[in-house]
Amino acid sequence: MRILGIETSCDDTGIAVLEAKGEKTPRFQILSNLIASQIKVHQKYGGVYPMLAKREHQKNLPIVLKKSLKTTNVKKADAIAVTYGPGLAPCLWTGINFAKDLAKAWDVPLIPVDHIEGHLLIGLLETIQNTKNTFPAVALIVSGGHTQLVLVKDIGEYKIIGETRDDAAGECFDKTARILGLPYPGGPAIAKEAEKAVPHSELHLPRPMMHTKDYDFSFSGLKTAVLYNYQARPKKERESKTYVRAMAAEIQQAIIDVLMKKTIRAAKEFSAKSIILGGGVAANLELRAAIKKECTALGLTHLIPPPILATDNGLMIALAGYFTYKTNVYEKNPDKIEANPNLRMA
Ligand code: KG4
Ligand code: ZN
Repeated sequence: MRILGIETSCDDTGIAVLEAKGEKTPRFQILSNLIASQIKVHQKYGGVYPMLAKREHQKNLPIVLKKSLKTTNVKKADAIAVTYGPGLAPCLWTGINFAKDLAKAWDVPLIPVDHIEGHLLIGLLETIQNTKNTFPAVALIVSGGHTQLVLVKDIGEYKIIGETRDDAAGECFDKTARILGLPYPGGPAIAKEAEKAVPHSELHLPRPMMHTKDYDFSFSGLKTAVLYNYQARPKKERESKTYVRAMAAEIQQAIIDVLMKKTIRAAKEFSAKSIILGGGVAANLELRAAIKKECTALGLTHLIPPPILATDNGLMIALAGYFTYKTNVYEKNPDKIEANPNLRMA
């Protein structure tokens, strides 16, 4: 079957066509995966403005759909999967309404998909044929809006074991980048500056909640620590390349240290066979390397999507939509599908 995946929960308009062949152990083929990014639109404001993002989605959706169908030579899909939460309400509704109209026109099922499940499952795309060394898994989902540790017993069987109590990891990258005068999105900007850093021995940021017994995170204190450090410096120093690069490296390391500590502890406690990494922050090369290194040392499998599939895209929605469709447990009446900005995986 062919599934069209539609993603509009934040600032990326993503549409993908995924083909699944075979019944029990499906073989997936990516027919297309297109993204219209709104980074340039939001960069001026240093963050995402929901109403502006909605307008861009409305403009982009028909264009991206037309391109997807043209490049794949597909006239219609057998089902449509669309993100219904979590995310920005006006953006979610734009994708849902577009998907409803299309599902009616094509007369195919509409499958509502949890964005976080999409981020989680896309890491399994390559290994879905053989999950012998996958479950139970611990998934670290780190994006601009979410930071969660999820115990994955199987596809569709999730338990959130920890999450951020305030800012998400990606949000921390974005906000601290803004303090340092770096562009939006902050994650890639911080990573780029960090690469050029020379060690700066007096720069030390806290690792909030790193040693607490739970699996929760907190990143707002890290942001405040960066702000105070920045404000305490003379203008000339804080705007120097040396300072910005050293601070970027320390921010990145502090975030990675706390994420790693709890992820590894969870993997041990729950006897996980693998660690799944997902969400936009999973595009971070240092975090990817840290997960791979620890997994190798512990004899665990690491499941990490390529950076282009870590950030928001339609393919992850098509993939999660496929598995939801197979369970047959979802809202079958398209008219009843509604955006759920605060959706939580259960
Ligand atoms: O998953 P995503 O595309 O959108 C949400 O669902 O939020 O994640 C976007 C987040 C942003 O906060 C961005 O700064 C971060 O992912 N990000 C990165 C990198 N690339 C994107 N963070 C760290 N390093 C990166 N290379
Ligand atoms: Zn996302």
